[in-house]
Formats: sequence, structure tokens, C-alpha cells
Amino acid sequence: MSGNIHDRLAELARISDEPDALTRAFLSPALKRSHALVRKWMEATGLAVHCDAGGNLIGRREATEGAAGAKTLVVGSHLDTVRAAGLYDGPLGVLAGIAVAAELAETPLPFALEVVGFSDEEGLRYQTAYLGSRFYSGRFPAEWLELTDAENIPLRQAAIDWGSDPADFLEQEPREDLLGYLELHIEQGPVLEQENLSVGVVTAIAGQSRVALKLTGAPGHAGTTPMTLRRDALAGAAEFIAEVERVGHRHPESLGLVATVGQLTVEPGASNVIPGRTEFTLDLRHPDNAVREAALAELETAFKRIAAERRLDAVWIVRQENPAVPCDARFIEALVEAASHEQAVVPELVSGAGHDAVALSPLCPVGMLFVTCRDGLSHHPDEFTAPEHIDVAVAVLTRAVRALAEDI
Ligand code: GLV
Ligand code: MN
Ligand code: MN
Repeated sequence: MSGNIHDRLAELARISDEPDALTRAFLSPALKRSHALVRKWMEATGLAVHCDAGGNLIGRREATEGAAGAKTLVVGSHLDTVRAAGLYDGPLGVLAGIAVAAELAETPLPFALEVVGFSDEEGLRYQTAYLGSRFYSGRFPAEWLELTDAENIPLRQAAIDWGSDPADFLEQEPREDLLGYLELHIEQGPVLEQENLSVGVVTAIAGQSRVALKLTGAPGHAGTTPMTLRRDALAGAAEFIAEVERVGHRHPESLGLVATVGQLTVEPGASNVIPGRTEFTLDLRHPDNAVREAALAELETAFKRIAAERRLDAVWIVRQENPAVPCDARFIEALVEAASHEQAVVPELVSGAGHDAVALSPLCPVGMLFVTCRDGLSHHPDEFTAPEHIDVAVAVLTRAVRALAEDI
């Protein structure tokens, strides 16, 4: 089983928007090419496959005949990646969903099963995560169509280029047929590895704020402009970034407040020119919404103070605010029970990373299984999970889906 998944992960990893790294962005050419492969694997499992207008690839098996009022259980993850990604974050959950569908191919199910490869979980292209899963669930905010990417391409245009009608983004209704969402994902942290365990069950996903920031000063000659007369946008950003780190350090508990500036551009961008403008991002997370919100307010105040002191124009746009999401008690129980057949101890973990479950959680119960990954490393080309752990994880997920089918 895992041999199959490992080979498929390697094959998928060759499909990238960049020549020397694995990068697959929302509605990009590489995402389209990845669909051809995943579609083939879904179809080989007997799933009926289509791609929705939001770029989500969906393989569906109907409920067994006679299952009155059947709803849809969704198992999946995302096919987009971060920049210079590893092989596992996202695709593993999609391939695991296909593996579950294959395992259960001959088993009657009282619900329809959809295996989904979401088109955007990472938010790489538009700095707003869950574009794919928000579309899939029928909760795509109309204003997101006007977001622009680094090349100034509005999302509306990206949809047209993909072959979709932007009107489809406005017309969908929240889905009412969803029974629940289950996802297998690498842990992206060190706990399972430290405890020498294959899998753990997620109890909640930390809340997250994403902010787009701009500072504008004045470009000028690096050799002739006295220090006192400068309005250096990058120096302002640097002061703010140091403040971000300080605020993060104030909550040192494990997976407490985490605060990151992960993207920054500088203009004009020459070694002998004072930076006149900088755009950057802030990513802020905590399992307790109140702590995150207080830190966000504190950082906004600091940002505006630093800009004022340095005579910089400041723009602070909150791009995303996702409250913490609890996983469903019944799904946790089913996953823990299933995992207990493989492990004497089944840890329950909070996810610091965001997942498509966040986007689906207003519509249906969600549950997540984590599988260990080497050195807890993720969002990095060296992400790795050994095949034997993947075997355990797929067995647990399959057993949990079977249990839900019997329990309905
Ligand atoms: C997604 O991986 C995120 O948590 O940013
Ligand atoms: Mn990720
Ligand atoms: Mn992911």
C-alpha cells in the first residue's frame, strides 16, 4: 500500500510551477497537470471524477443502494503546495483518501464517499488560505474574486484562465449534504517521532490571522542621503519584524503564540538605493482565540507607531481570521479507537498548522489523523514519512471510516 503511495507522491512531486523546486499554486498550470495524474488514480479505484469550477478534484462513490437520506463523507487534503515544498503536506491526504476508497471498494457504505484534492489550502498565490475548500463547501466570499496575485492577476482572471466562469464562484450554496470531513496529514511537528509512534489524533486546529502589510517611504541615493533625512521602508519593516518576534516569545509554551513574517519584497531593490517601499506578511496563530486577538491588536498598534515615528505610510490589511476549530468528539473517538488497534498509546494533539478542515468546519464535523514525520520537518523539501508509518495511518483511517459506516 505505502509503496504505492510513496511512488505516487514522488510522481506528483515532479509536477511543479518552478523548475528546481516543488511549488504548485492555486489554479496554476502545474495544478492542472497534477489533476491528470490524480484523476487517473481516482478512476482506477472506481470513483467518478470531476473538477469543480474552484479547481478542486473530486472522486465520488455513491452510497450503497437503499441507504435512505444518504449524506457525503469527505476524505481528502490539498494538491497545492507552499513554495519549495516537500512531498507530503497535502498530497499524502489525497492519496490516502484514494487508498481508503480502494480498501472499501467492495464494502457497502450508507453514505457517499468523496475523495477530494483541494486546489488551495496553503494560500501561496493570493495570501488567503482555503480558497479551494471554501469554494467546495459553498462558502466562497465574493470579494475574494478581486484579490490579486504577485503578478497582479485578479483571482477572477485566474478562474477564467483555468477554464471556469467567475459567476460560478458567486452562485454556489453552502453544502447541506456533508456528513463530515476526515483528513490524514503529516504531523509537521516532533511529538509523535519523540514518542516513537506512527499516528496521533487531532483534537483542535489553532486559530490563525494573516495580514498583508505595506510600508512606503522615499527611495533615494544610498551614498548621498544623510541618515537623518531618510524614510527607509525596509528599516521600518525590520523594526516591526523584531517586534513580531518579541511578541511571539512572550508565550513560550509549546505551540503557544507563533508569529511569523514569511514573505517580504523590497522596492526598488538595489544595493545602492534606499528602500522606498516594502510589502510583507504576518502570520499569527494560537489555540486560544482571545490570546491571538490580543496579540494581533498589539502588533497593529506597534506597526502604526513604528510607521509614524519613521514618517512612513502604513497599510495593514487583515486578509484572513480563522478562529480555532475543535475536532468532532465522535470522529476523535472513532480515530482513537481505530488507532488503538495499531498502537498501545494514542496521543491527542493540537494542530498548529491550518488545514482544509477549518474551511469545512462550519458545515460539518471534522476529524484529523496525524502521521509522524522525520524531525517534525514540513514546508521544506526534506519532509519525509517512512512507508511503514503511512501503512499504519491508512489502516487507521480505513478502520475509522468503516466504523462510521457501521455506526450510522
Ligand atoms: C498550512 O500549512 C498552514 O498552516 O499555513
Ligand atoms: Mn502546509
Ligand atoms: Mn497541508
